[in-house]
Amino acid sequence: MSEVLATRHLLGIDNLSAEDIGLIFRTADGFKEVLARPIKKVPSLRDVTVANLFFENSTRTRISFELAEKRLSADVVNFSSSTSSTKKGETLVDTVNNILAMKVDMVVMRHADPGAAIFLSRHVDARIINAGDGTREHPTQALLDAYSIREKLGRVKGVKVAIVGDILHSRVALSNVLCLRKLGAEVMLCGPSTLMPRHARDLGVEVSHNMDEALRWCDVANMLRIQLERQGGDGIANFPSLREYAMRFGLDRKRYEALGKELVIMHPGPINRGVEVTSDVADGPESIILHQVENGVAVRMAVLFLLAGGPGRQARL
Ligand code: NCD
Repeated sequence: MSEVLATRHLLGIDNLSAEDIGLIFRTADGFKEVLARPIKKVPSLRDVTVANLFFENSTRTRISFELAEKRLSADVVNFSSSTSSTKKGETLVDTVNNILAMKVDMVVMRHADPGAAIFLSRHVDARIINAGDGTREHPTQALLDAYSIREKLGRVKGVKVAIVGDILHSRVALSNVLCLRKLGAEVMLCGPSTLMPRHARDLGVEVSHNMDEALRWCDVANMLRIQLERQGGDGIANFPSLREYAMRFGLDRKRYEALGKELVIMHPGPINRGVEVTSDVADGPESIILHQVENGVAVRMAVLFLLAGGPGRQARL
């Protein structure tokens, strides 16, 4: 079994093999043990400098990465800017030059433009981790989601996962599909046809526009947030109203009970309570939403540690 990732950067799940994902999970298992100790810190990334560059709003992903870096004893610098008016080229070239000048070893970047992390990886001599690039990919979210399914059900292979909601605008959906398929899960995408990519079936998944059908089919329901900020005009151009969306695709206790079987309920957050899921489901016993958040730190520690070179770091960075 290899102890080294076959990639220098984490730009998307498409660059990872099933073996890479297995290595990340095994490494995360070790870090979960560290996080359960009274002293939750290890010296693994001492002398490594990580820059968190967030050009798009984020709370939990930014905090999760920062905590992961600090638990590994890395030096951390943060930059946040939600100014969307700056043009992509200018912003990124500026960023590149700043990073080079600061001698940063690793960059965690969130950006509104799809492909921004790929662009950066071609222009800087640092390891790049994509923390979400527009509607394209959000690889660490998919890794922590699959890790959480593995933890809850003991396996990912053969598990039926329904991903429900705004598939069209969701980087979490694409990264989840790629990750789950690589690990042998069966995936169904479910949402209104206006929020479903036209060629979704080409990803090797089932597609449904009927929520009850999807829920009857699956073992796990991952309820994605409606990406209000990525819709047209007033934010609800792709469906009549949030109320109607909730009636057709929202999950409440009544709908859950009517299924007559157990499901694992997931949500990447932030939740629009009462839209994708009601509070009695989000906070209920079948929800693993807070486990996802907890596992996010261990999985991100694993990614940072492995990209920095794993156990033989000094030789590789
Ligand atoms: C996701 C994101 O930003 O893509 N959230 C997150 O990483 N915490 C999902 C979302 O915003 O809906």
